[in-house]
Amino acid sequence: MLKGKSILLGVTGSVAAYKTIELIRLIKKEEASVRVIMTEASQRFMTPLSAEIASGDHVYRDMFDPPLSHISLPATADLLVVAPATANIIGKYANGIADDMLSTAMMAFQGKVIIAPAMNRRMYESPQVQKNLRYLESLGVTFAGPDKGVLACGEEGIGRMAGIDSIMDKIRSALTEQDLEGEQILVTAGPTREYIDPIRYVSNRSSGKMGYAIAAVAKRRGAEVTLITGPSALTPPEGVEVIKVETAAEMHQAVMDNFPMSTIFVMSAAVSDFSPVKTECAKIEKPDNFTLHLRKTSDILEEAGRLKKRPYTVGFSAETGFRLDRAKKKLTAKNMDMMVFNDVTKEGSGFDKDTNEVVILNRDKSGNIVEMPLPLMSKENVAAMIFDRISMQRERPDNE
Ligand SMILES: Cc1cc2nc3c(=O)[nH]c(=O)nc-3n(C[C@H](O)[C@H](O)[C@H](O)COP(=O)(O)O)c2cc1C
Repeated sequence: MLKGKSILLGVTGSVAAYKTIELIRLIKKEEASVRVIMTEASQRFMTPLSAEIASGDHVYRDMFDPPLSHISLPATADLLVVAPATANIIGKYANGIADDMLSTAMMAFQGKVIIAPAMNRRMYESPQVQKNLRYLESLGVTFAGPDKGVLACGEEGIGRMAGIDSIMDKIRSALTEQDLEGEQILVTAGPTREYIDPIRYVSNRSSGKMGYAIAAVAKRRGAEVTLITGPSALTPPEGVEVIKVETAAEMHQAVMDNFPMSTIFVMSAAVSDFSPVKTECAKIEKPDNFTLHLRKTSDILEEAGRLKKRPYTVGFSAETGFRLDRAKKKLTAKNMDMMVFNDVTKEGSGFDKDTNEVVILNRDKSGNIVEMPLPLMSKENVAAMIFDRISMQRERPDNE
């Protein structure tokens, strides 16, 4: 996602400095280059050698080595990230102080800046730091964290550096075109549970990974996102409104409540197709034989497709085998704008995997179904391709 981008990373004198190695590793994993500047104090917490090995590049520490690097480095960077950022560097940046390699490079940088503060709770809450943070925010600086929790000094409270995943998410957003700004995107994810009695339920293998990836990508591209999720072990993406549901009926209600405000609706949840006719109030005794009577749950997509005024609606068709015919039938029968077919039995695809291999189906202006087969890729990349396709179809409905 960060391929080809150049990130300038400042590291300052906080106990959290050691975590930066993982940040460098993740940035590099996405094929971006990272140039590291370390302050003198930060070298007491992390060795420049570790940063050098992780980044595969020289680590800059001295304004005079090589001379003018404090000007040349920021001139070629797409983004400046300071993680961890001490109270000191925040104060210097807010007040125009440039007295070492990092603070001068920060002053010379003209692009987007992300700062991940890390410090003791009382330092963070001090009026001086708060005033500096407010001022930097007014200049357009983005902050990652800080988080609440147990601090390095043993105290509890706000001041922990944001998690590396959360900083990575801010980096991706900052370097991603905000082409979904103004969109209100409703995404469903995960399975539902249909209770037989208070202990047992009927469900399916959905993990929610595809839907959570869709929500993350939509948010990163500037959309307002509401994620309706069935039970899932995943952490929802930051900045997304989350509605937790359990049953198909609850999912149905939540979708209908949020439908009118949405411009795009992506139904990637695996809603149970069947629900027990009767849910017992108490645990059913263990019989020798047991017949469970099921009835069909309401088909949320079908209902959505019947509505005259509806958002651009995307359905998912998970099949066992290459049953593209079934997905095409659903696209037409349910009056969807787009259907995403995936064969859950295929290697690397389907439940609980981080990757997926899909065929995107939509209709051209004349109503003919257009197929867009995609190779195996990460679920985030599948999500990106779905939104690219929607944008393209809206711009040129007669594409292909
Ligand atoms: C053990 C130790 C831990 C520290 N942790 C932090 C910290 O988490 N956040 C912070 O703002 N300052 C912290 N400091 C203070 C900074 O290291 C100090 O203000 C230093 O001048 C920062 O320099 P720099 O911003 O150039 O890296 C710590 C100091 C020590 C001795």
